[in-house]
Amino acid sequence: MKAIKFRSQLSLNFFILNFKYLFMPQRKAPAKKIAAKKDAAQELLEFFEDGLKDMYWAEKALLKALPLMKVNASSAKLKTAIDDHIAETQQHVTRLEEVFAILGKKAKAEKCDAMDGLLKEGKSILKETEPGAVRDAGIIAASQKVEHYEIATYGTLATYASQLGHKDAVSLLKSTLQEEKNCDKLLSKIAVSEVNIKAK
Ligand SMILES: [Fe+2]
Ligand SMILES: [Fe+2]
Repeated sequence: MKAIKFRSQLSLNFFILNFKYLFMPQRKAPAKKIAAKKDAAQELLEFFEDGLKDMYWAEKALLKALPLMKVNASSAKLKTAIDDHIAETQQHVTRLEEVFAILGKKAKAEKCDAMDGLLKEGKSILKETEPGAVRDAGIIAASQKVEHYEIATYGTLATYASQLGHKDAVSLLKSTLQEEKNCDKLLSKIAVSEVNIKAK
């Protein structure tokens, strides 16, 4: 009897002591400042160069990915739009090389995790859609995510180039930015006027 009482007293004490942990929402670990890598950028110019390396990788990855999107598209208009953007993307690679040259640097690519993720999602959309209008809608959705990423990045890079006083680089980056915006608009037009209607 004594043993039972002792045990239940113990359980009661345990319950009281742990009440807040049992019924209160668990607190997340506090956010911490991240330590920088050894070769972390210290100035805007270095950060600008890092961004250029990312986009150089991204544009080259797109040159490999876009033909796959074209082969899987059914709409003639979509196929043409992709074809035209492949030609523009080759120009984007060349322009980035010119921007590196303006900075007195050799063009270098560094893996862009964001573009890598977007391209993986694009491939998975192909598996998740039947060929035809629905797959075309998926290709447009994936492509527009890519274009929006490029628009955001080239906008930032053009601003950095301007603030760093590299006028020629600004004009090159803005030319590419405009082509990304035009491509995005054209994809919206093809989706709204044809593909999405057929996919209904
Ligand atoms: Fe591009
Ligand atoms: Fe693009």
